[in-house]
Amino acid sequence: MSGKIKKFGKLSNYLLVFILLCGVLPIVSCNEQARGFALPEGDIEKGKVTYKRLACNECHSISGIDWKGESDSLNIALGGKVTIQKSYGELVSSVINPSHKIARRYKKQAVTEEELSKMKNYNEAMTVQELVDLVTFLQSEYDIKSPLTDYYPYY
Ligand code: HEC
Repeated sequence: MSGKIKKFGKLSNYLLVFILLCGVLPIVSCNEQARGFALPEGDIEKGKVTYKRLACNECHSISGIDWKGESDSLNIALGGKVTIQKSYGELVSSVINPSHKIARRYKKQAVTEEELSKMKNYNEAMTVQELVDLVTFLQSEYDIKSPLTDYYPYY
């Protein structure tokens, strides 16, 4: 009898370690991995050239560059008004590791059967400098709009 209880005790210890590993570590290691990440300043115009060269407009529209997808392909808007600034960390991740996080609103149309992003892999197709410029260009396309309006309550 006591053997059984002991066994359960052991099991719950494993369970605890498991929960800790799954729940707490990812949060810690996530922060660890973002720490110390700093891009040099890029060149918006060169980034735009790279955007065109890599034909990002096959799946994306952004102001000033026409979307050139097939009629059945994706048209996901980049840039425009946002309430929270897109960090270059987020933008770099979106470009070099698009499957890391897929917005819920794109979920159905944007992923393959394996739940991976349909976005192409460009990691062999551009230099680091091109990535820096591209991200600088993308970031410049976002307009931060305060969630507050101009209307203030009057008394
Ligand atoms: C074959 C289609 C396709 C092409 C080509 C493509 N993308 Fe994407 N892109 C996607 C899809 C689908 C998503 C949304 C799901 C995701 O995050 O992967 C996305 C998401 C993004 C996002 C995140 C958008 C957001 O609102 O969070 C960025 C930034 C982005 N792409 C940049 C690029 C750039 C830069 C290029 C060219 C180098 C490019 N994409 C080429 C399909 C594509």
